[in-house]
Amino acid sequence: MNHLVTIGDLSRDRIEGLLDLAAELDQPEKKHALSHLLRGYVVATMFFEASTRTRLSFESAALRLGAGVVGFAEADTTSTKKGETLEDTVRMCMAYGDVLVLRHPEIGSAARAAKVASVPVVNGGDGANEHPTQTLVDLYTIRKAFGKVDGLRIAFVGDLLYGRTVHSLLAALAKYTNITATLVGPKSLALPESHRRHATLHGIDLRDADRLEDAIPEVDLVYMTRIQKERFPPGAADVGGSYRLDAKMLGAAKKELRVLHPLPRVDEIATDVDATPHALYFPQAANGVPVRQAVLLSVLGVKP
Ligand code: CP
Repeated sequence: MNHLVTIGDLSRDRIEGLLDLAAELDQPEKKHALSHLLRGYVVATMFFEASTRTRLSFESAALRLGAGVVGFAEADTTSTKKGETLEDTVRMCMAYGDVLVLRHPEIGSAARAAKVASVPVVNGGDGANEHPTQTLVDLYTIRKAFGKVDGLRIAFVGDLLYGRTVHSLLAALAKYTNITATLVGPKSLALPESHRRHATLHGIDLRDADRLEDAIPEVDLVYMTRIQKERFPPGAADVGGSYRLDAKMLGAAKKELRVLHPLPRVDEIATDVDATPHALYFPQAANGVPVRQAVLLSVLGVKP
């Protein structure tokens, strides 16, 4: 079965193929002209955790390709509230949909779903583990801005412990060459050792910086993340607001530096950054539609 559970499921060639397909679909004249591609298909969106971008961009991608959409946006409206297991919920949804897009708070939930599903499962975020389609959106945005991924220097800022988008993006960057990643964040939210080891083993030049100000002049990209308080164990110290980017700090940046953020932001990017030429996070989120169209076509084995 053609699941997308982890970015590790995809070779660099397959990633590049998906990004090429997204670029082919991402043309103004194609926006309203693709509804024949998935006519008759149904996409099931199973969102056990809050989402704006992932769910709505998947649903928009499906609808623009002509597919129908069924699903739920919170666990409380489903029979999991009555005690149904994830596996049984998956068994039901695969009877109603041709592909399942799953977001769930538990690490490994997408892999559990894939184990019982007879239709493709796409991981829309499993707890603090991975978010592979966000990584495809990130890489697409990077490639569009820089024309390449190899050789870039990226600062990862904020919650590197619970930040699943960081975990997946670093794993994908390990498939590219000559990448430098500078990690900036509170010590209590440092990148897990397994991710550090994997990145280093695969040739990423991994560095640490105490201050975002020190990293800014050195990098091509700043990848900001939200502090994920909802994943903190009870009683953990609040470190919100400790790494904040504002327009003044970007005075030391290269002209070409771009700021990414998977969003939502809380207070880690001041709104005065939005109007600078460095801000790329809103176009990044908009890229979710063509990228997820490419994912749906790919996992369903439909050629445009
Ligand atoms: N980037 C992202 O996953 O956003 P949502 O949580 O709004 O889906």
